[in-house]
Amino acid sequence: MSKISATITAPENRQAPPAPVLRDALELVVSAVVPRTKNIVSVHFRAAGQQDLPGFVPGSNLAVECSGTGGRTKTNAYSLTGSGTFPEEYTISVLRQDDGAGGSRHIHGLRPGDRVRAARPRSAFAPVTTARRHLLIAAGIGVTPILSHARSAAEWGREAVVISVHRDGVGPHSAELRKIAATNPSISFLECDNRTDFSQRLTRILRQQPLGTHLYVCGPEQFMDDVLAKARTAGWPGERLHSEAFGQAELDPGDPFAVTLASTGEWIAVPSGRTLLEALEAAGKNIPNLCRQGVCGECRLGVQAGRPLHRDSYLSDEERAEAASIMCCVSRSIDPEMELEL
Ligand code: FES
Repeated sequence: MSKISATITAPENRQAPPAPVLRDALELVVSAVVPRTKNIVSVHFRAAGQQDLPGFVPGSNLAVECSGTGGRTKTNAYSLTGSGTFPEEYTISVLRQDDGAGGSRHIHGLRPGDRVRAARPRSAFAPVTTARRHLLIAAGIGVTPILSHARSAAEWGREAVVISVHRDGVGPHSAELRKIAATNPSISFLECDNRTDFSQRLTRILRQQPLGTHLYVCGPEQFMDDVLAKARTAGWPGERLHSEAFGQAELDPGDPFAVTLASTGEWIAVPSGRTLLEALEAAGKNIPNLCRQGVCGECRLGVQAGRPLHRDSYLSDEERAEAASIMCCVSRSIDPEMELEL
């Protein structure tokens, strides 16, 4: 998958409680490992016991407990590639990142019969089922949630145009997408192996879509920014544009600030280089979180006073302007002090 950039690690010098998303964990067993390209594998999981696997919304991710660098346990979220309807198994596809924190190496090391713990699937990239048509655009390993959307669209007879941009010969799920398009008249599939060609075709395709089409894009940040900018230029309103980020850029350490908790009056300092989430955890607060990169929406907190410095990819422009919420895993405060609804 597109790793949704999720890494949950224990702050230093503190016995971390179990990650909240894993409190109600699913016990899974690896049923198959299928190489896709030289550095991408698909891993299939079944329930370890007799229970049915929970269904999920297309575009959902599965947060899998992994051992990372230094033997620390963490949770990485990966897009599920299935449609989510009565799943008999969960499948993720993972790009191996040798310079990463170890999560992808852990997934690549799994073998049939291995057991893993995972959170129930979550979605922050669901299709709008009332859309007239779906324009699904992926680059590289970003194809994984797009494949999930395409499968669901095919199952339910929704119209979809799927575009996958990848280097020549290495489209990780192109074979499945070709098959879906060949057997479902409501789906069309287009592959591009160079950006210039893609850009020209996208301009044309954006102009051809009927009113009521929704666009979904997943891929590297710059790719998504370019696609969304092009769509806006072509007159697409923001509410019809949806994106899922992965591999966010490293954020700067930011200025120090402090928060007061409205319920107790407690005052907590957030030094430069430490996130608000880490500061709250260090103070013993148990804040739900999943991606820790401003993507999933799990760590949202209410703001009673002060101006958030939004650095997430989750809140809408309207929500940012309202300044009533903050994604505490990445965002900070413009003011030296902020009051939280906590
Ligand atoms: S933990 Fe995902 S947005 Fe903060």
